[in-house]
Amino acid sequence: MELKRLLIARFPEIVPTRLPSGFDRVGDIAVVGITPELASLEREIGACILALHHTIRVVAKRDGEYGGEYRTLPLRVISGEERLTTVHRENSVTLHLDLAQVYFSVRSAHERARIAALVQPGERVAVLCSGVGPFPLIIGRHSRPREVIGIEKNPVAHQYAQHNLRANRSINNVCFLEGDARGVLPNLNRQFDRILIVLPHGGENLLPCALDALRPGGTLHFYDMQAKGCSSTTQDKVEAACREKGRSMEPVQVTICGHCGPTVHRVCLDAVIDATE
Ligand SMILES: C[S@@+](CC[C@H](N)C(=O)[O-])C[C@H]1O[C@@H](n2cnc3c(N)ncnc32)[C@H](O)[C@@H]1O
Repeated sequence: MELKRLLIARFPEIVPTRLPSGFDRVGDIAVVGITPELASLEREIGACILALHHTIRVVAKRDGEYGGEYRTLPLRVISGEERLTTVHRENSVTLHLDLAQVYFSVRSAHERARIAALVQPGERVAVLCSGVGPFPLIIGRHSRPREVIGIEKNPVAHQYAQHNLRANRSINNVCFLEGDARGVLPNLNRQFDRILIVLPHGGENLLPCALDALRPGGTLHFYDMQAKGCSSTTQDKVEAACREKGRSMEPVQVTICGHCGPTVHRVCLDAVIDATE
């Protein structure tokens, strides 16, 4: 609200609803959305953010949507230092990252804490699509798993994940592997108690390999995009994959863990595969 008030005072001629009311803070970078008609004012808007928050060193404008093979977000620095590398702290974990080259969203912080709280002592956990490592590291920090393996195909994100493992020295039950999860996971020849598929666009392509690696009674966390008010499509995807593999699923819950535009939710379906009871 402080930012909104400052911008309204600075640009009285602009309809207030068109001005940004906030930003995502990743380390010392502010990521802000600015509507196209305010493009000529973006440097001044960036300067207002820097003036208001002394620990922010970079203001970057969203220049599009998450996309591409590695789900990166197009960003452009509009004020402050000319860089998109930073160090972010979340759920008592330190994460080094480069927003120009990897996916990272601060909006999943609560979801990561939710999953970490579900992990039981002694579990083997696989995180498919682990990015710079937030899910594995936060699980490793807050739960007592036997092991957590993160698999990521963006080589830059994987390098950051390994760096982040070294940066969080007391976490000793996590490892990261580089490559396409469809190739890496089967080669581990291991059964997991819990598998996360953190790829809300196209994650269904990873369901077959995840189901092969999940022990009977194990838990799947499947992230997906779902039209608001339409609760069945995500479950349909997991059910179809289970049918193909001759397995059954017991949905436990669907958690809404974000928004993607006004009509689409980011959801996580938690399901037990081949539940015995
Ligand atoms: C939505 S991001 C999630 C990253 C991370 N889990 C997080 O929460 O910050 C999806 C990630 O999946 C990776 N990815 C996409 N397809 C993959 C695949 N087949 N195998 C492994 N990683 C993949 C992308 O490079 C990207 O880093």
